[in-house]
Order: sequence, then structure tokens, then C-alpha cells
Amino acid sequence: MALGNRAAQVIYMEEGDQARLGQQDIVLVDAFGRSVSRKRVDNDIDHEQTGKQNHSFYMHKEIHEQPDTVARTLVHSYHLKDQLELDFMEIDRLSIIACGTSYYAAMVAKYWFEQLAALPVDIDVASEFRYRSPLMSNSGLAVFISQSGETADTLAALKYARSNQQQTLAVVNVAASSIAREADMSVQTQAGPEIGVASTKAFTAQLSVLGSLAIQAAQQRRQFSAEMARAAFTTLAGVPQKLEQILSMESQLEAIGNSLTDARDAYFIGRGSSYPIAMEGALKLKEISYIHAEGFGAGELKHGPIALIESGVPVFVIAPNNDLLEKTLSNMQEVVARGGRCILLGDKHSIKACGDDQVECIEIPESDPFTSPLLYVAALQLIAYYAALAKGTDVDQPRNLAKSVTVE
Ligand code: M6R
Repeated sequence: MALGNRAAQVIYMEEGDQARLGQQDIVLVDAFGRSVSRKRVDNDIDHEQTGKQNHSFYMHKEIHEQPDTVARTLVHSYHLKDQLELDFMEIDRLSIIACGTSYYAAMVAKYWFEQLAALPVDIDVASEFRYRSPLMSNSGLAVFISQSGETADTLAALKYARSNQQQTLAVVNVAASSIAREADMSVQTQAGPEIGVASTKAFTAQLSVLGSLAIQAAQQRRQFSAEMARAAFTTLAGVPQKLEQILSMESQLEAIGNSLTDARDAYFIGRGSSYPIAMEGALKLKEISYIHAEGFGAGELKHGPIALIESGVPVFVIAPNNDLLEKTLSNMQEVVARGGRCILLGDKHSIKACGDDQVECIEIPESDPFTSPLLYVAALQLIAYYAALAKGTDVDQPRNLAKSVTVE
């Protein structure tokens, strides 16, 4: 992407390769100094896609692209198990490894694969996984999630898994990336180039791939009939339209974002698959607005974090209508009782069940609990975006951060 429209073709060098560029030719040698030839591939980046169009920041453009990028990724993911020749009956354990936002996609996927497909899942941040000598099952599948496909820790973790005889699957946004090339199988999320440092559309595209795979695993493992699988796909297919609805609530989300400018801290709580969304909401806010933000499993509050609640501190409560709603609302009441400013994200039913005028409510379209992570995160992305905009930070290039972390 960095070569933009300056190169029609690209040669991807392997680890240790060196190249000498002459006026007429390119001489390539491998790590042992042997002359090698590497394939030239077309650089097919669509330059239209890499512009900001009418948006002030890439992040804003990328948030708004999500109805399309999710729809495209879902179409691409519909027959994945056949394209990848994966038999989930033969797999007894999934290990999912990633960093940052991609790790939160792994966290959501753990709920999905365990609940829908009855498949045990281990998740790890790559920088921990690679150094803790994890024991891996002989019939395991190790999945590596990365937008860039170049994250150094994730790549090293992938090499570790391969050396432990794991089948490896990469879920990347950049098809020709190092992680895609190193893995046995790879799936490309159809998010298109993501330029803003804060990952947005790549996350919902990752969830689209992982959700589709979880349905296919559920069917192969006889947890879902063909009809149940179809119904689950139909639910996923409804996400783009609901995302449109959330994006049309922009002025309400902007007002909440603006109201955070004087906040020193902000907290995000959720249960089940809303717990990773709470973590992701906090990461988005802290990385671009520099407001200190943390996400917690709502049930963990009373084990320590509730000591942080003081008058007016914003607490975002991710509360879709599911089996855990009542418990989440009761955790929210503990925050209200200590003077916290609660902002509830929930559907009609959750808001009615909350029934507390002190709580500010953001109404998210009703959805099946399975797809709620893809929806609630979009609202949090916009809130973080507007908080950063109001604080005047460089939204696309926040301080101290790089788009892809290619060193340890
Ligand atoms: O390219 P990757 O998905 O491997 O990157 C992982 C993280 O570095 C990335 O998600 C980072 O946390 C983002 N800044 C989050 O917005």
C-alpha cells in the first residue's frame, strides 16, 4: 500500500532475502546467499479506496464503510469450510491468537465457537503465547487474526504453532501479507485498505469471518441442523442494514463523544460477548482521545474496579437483550448508586428493563444475541471518534502508535 500508485507489480521478499536493484535488473539472494527468483504479482490496490473521499479522517470513512465491508465479507465467507477443506469434526481444540483489536475479535469468537459449535477454544495475546511454551493438542487448529498480517508477535506465534505441528489458519485483511503466506490456510477479510491507526472496519470484517466459520463448525459438529445454520446466516446477513441504522444515529453519538472531553477516565462494562466489546470500546477511546479508559467484565466490578467509581465518571454499559441482561443491569445499578454517569447501550427491551431516568440511553436496533457484538461496537467507534475530534487529537495518527507493529 505504501507504494501506492507508483508500482504496478510487487515482489514479496522472503525472510532473510536481499535484493540488489540495478538499472535494468533485480538480483535476489536468499538468507544463505543463493540466487533465487520470487514471483512478481500485480499491485492491485484500488487507489479510489485509499483516499479520504469527503471525510475529514480515514477513521470516519472506515466506520461508515462497514455496512458494505461486512456485507462483502459475509458473501466471501459463506462457503469457507469447503474452500479451506476444514473438517471441524476432526478438530478437538481451537487456539486463537492475535493482538489489540484483533485479539478482541478472538475473544468474541471464543463465545461463538464454544456456544454454537461446542468446540473448546483457547485465546491468547500473541506476545504472551509465543513465550509461555503453550501445550497444543495434536488435533488442534491454530487461528491467527491480523488486519495487517505483519504484526511481529502474531507472526512469531504462528511460527511456534507450526513448529508444534498445528494446522494453521490466518484471518488477515492483506492477502499477500507475511502471516497469510506463512499459514497453511488463509482467509482474507474484505474490509479493503484500512489506513486509520484505530482499527474499525477490519474488526467487524474479522467478526464476519469468524461468525460464519462458527456456524459452519456448528453444522459439521452436529450442533446445528441445516435449517439452524441457514437461520444463523440470515441473522448475520441482516447486520449491514442494522449497521446503517446505527450510523444514522451519528448526531446522538457525537453529542455523547463531545461530552467526554473533560473526562479523565471512562469505563466500559459488559458480560458474555459484550465483555470483549467493552474492552474494544475502551481501547478505541484511549488510543485516539488519550482519555484513560478500561473495559471490565461487568461481574468483576465488585472485585476491585468499583472502587474507581466517583461522581460523574462515565461508565458505558453494553447491554443487549440476552440471558445476561438482568445481571448487567444490576451491575449498572451498583455504579449508579455510587454516583457514576451511566450510559446504557441496549435495544428497546433493555432500555425498558433499565427504567432509570438517571441513566442515559442509546437505543441500538434489536438483534439476535449472536450478532450484537458487530452492532454495539459501531456505536462505540463513533463515540470514541467524536471524543477525539472534540479534543483535537490527530485521529488517524495518534501519538506513539503505528498502524502495524512489525517489531517487538
Ligand atoms: O494488524 P493487526 O490486526 O495484527 O494489529 C493488531 C493491533 O496492533 C491493532 O489491532 C491495534 O491494537 C489497533 N491500533 C487497534 O485499534
